[in-house]
Amino acid sequence: MKIADFKIEEWMNKYEADAEYDLTTTCISPLSVNDLPYEKSIFDKKLDYGDIEGSFRLKTAIKALYENQQVGNITVTHGAIGANQLVFLSLLERGDEVVSILPAYQQHYSIPEALGCSVKKYFLQEKNNWLPDLNELDELVTLKTKLICFTNPNNPTGAVIADNMLKEIAEIANKKNVWILSDEVYRGLNFIGNSYSRSIADIYPKGISIGSMSKTYSLPGLRLGWIAGREDLIKEINHQRQYNTISVSALDDYFASIALENRDKISARNFKIMNNGLSILKNWLTENPGVKCILPSGGTTALLRYGADISSKELCIKIQQETGVALLPGETMEMEGFVRIGFCADNLKIALNKISKFLV
Ligand SMILES: Cc1ncc(COP(=O)(O)O)c(C=O)c1O
Repeated sequence: MKIADFKIEEWMNKYEADAEYDLTTTCISPLSVNDLPYEKSIFDKKLDYGDIEGSFRLKTAIKALYENQQVGNITVTHGAIGANQLVFLSLLERGDEVVSILPAYQQHYSIPEALGCSVKKYFLQEKNNWLPDLNELDELVTLKTKLICFTNPNNPTGAVIADNMLKEIAEIANKKNVWILSDEVYRGLNFIGNSYSRSIADIYPKGISIGSMSKTYSLPGLRLGWIAGREDLIKEINHQRQYNTISVSALDDYFASIALENRDKISARNFKIMNNGLSILKNWLTENPGVKCILPSGGTTALLRYGADISSKELCIKIQQETGVALLPGETMEMEGFVRIGFCADNLKIALNKISKFLV
């Protein structure tokens, strides 16, 4: 299967390692094993394949993140990246129509395109606070549409689709009997209202929720994600999954269980980092009115519109060469004229002050 270059991942591979100040990151200071209250007996555990579709303990902890999901509605995957891919491979066929809401993780349009689907890209707009215009979305979804996909909370904008709007999107999908994939890897990181938005899987029977340990739970190195969705779909996904996963690592399964069982503590620690980052970002934006940004309502990233007359890639290369600060160019997300920052990054204040003069 031929597939487009994965622009974000290629950029990060090339520039992140050499950065003195890494603002490309979407994670909140990853935890170590020693930060988790693990049981010593884990070191005696035989490293067999483990529970093929994820342990009961882990799926029970994942189930607790939802209102109506059951252990049988959940399957465990190799990160959210594995989860997204499995959904597309299980659900889509050549010729299917997909409405993909951008900006998004590139999997959401490049995998369907590679599978031979017709992908309608719907771009969120700054003037709508990076939220979908539901009339426009309604017009785009047809009887031929098989799947709508989006990210909530959004990476890179940090916009959060509130429950009411989620329900309205579900109604649009329901009229045409369309599946919805909601990439919810940043779920649990809302600044406004309940820190957990309601999941699409709890709102809409054909809603598919993608979750992960990487962002909300600060354990990207576990490489552990999941899919929650209708039982017949999960069965189909597990059939597909046998060809690319067998099981996730038994250690990852164990540490993810421990982390989810202690998620309140992880969340309290992460909100301190996020609130601090957001307040640094707010102050910096006040001091630099030439840079435009709709403040994130959730997640770990913000999209900055810069004034300088230069492509986002050239700008990021220049900034990294001259200051050591790595940023993600909007072009890698089909958002030219913007750069993404991770506002939970270490040394955010120093890094932002270094880049101010390049952005206006
Ligand atoms: C929206 C989104 N989906 C999926 C992923 C992949 O996540 P994971 O590391 O859990 O595979 C990322 C990573 O940045 C992401 O931002």
